[in-house]
Amino acid sequence: MSDTYNDVVQSYGRCLRDKAFIDRFYQILMSSHPDIRAAFSGTDFGRQRRALRRGISTALMFAAGNDFVKGGVDTMAEVHSRNGRAPVEPRMYALWLDSLVQAVEESDGEFTGELARRWRDAMGVVIRYFSDHY
Ligand code: HEM
Repeated sequence: MSDTYNDVVQSYGRCLRDKAFIDRFYQILMSSHPDIRAAFSGTDFGRQRRALRRGISTALMFAAGNDFVKGGVDTMAEVHSRNGRAPVEPRMYALWLDSLVQAVEESDGEFTGELARRWRDAMGVVIRYFSDHY
């Protein structure tokens, strides 16, 4: 049976109970690289927060092998592709993932090093998919 990443899904649930989680993630992400700050210069963050909350859930379901989210993953891959609305060079994903893991560490009271590794494994699936479709 494939990995369901249930431990990561539970961790994400604990993070979302912290109302500051998504904002804190963006704060960390924005300070990680000038190119990233520039990429978000025209962004409506109210809308973006909701999109990301859903995007991470979709990514975790995709990693767990739920093919019914494939359409949502394809849409995100398209948005971030070379010719998409918000192109993301594959090298940027490492910063994104480091920022996410740092935000999880701050918000999840049950955070461990092992859980960090599990988050990286889980999000690595969608990141590979986006990179392959760049
Ligand atoms: C696996 C990692 C990522 C996920 C799951 C993700 C997810 C999303 C989602 C769901 C949207 C909204 C799409 C829409 O409006 O239709 C979005 C938009 C966007 N993302 Fe990402 N993203 C990721 C990584 C990144 C990275 C590394 C960057 C760095 C430059 C980035 C920059 C953007 C920008 C600029 C937008 C458009 C915001 C706007 O509409 O103004 N994303 N992303």
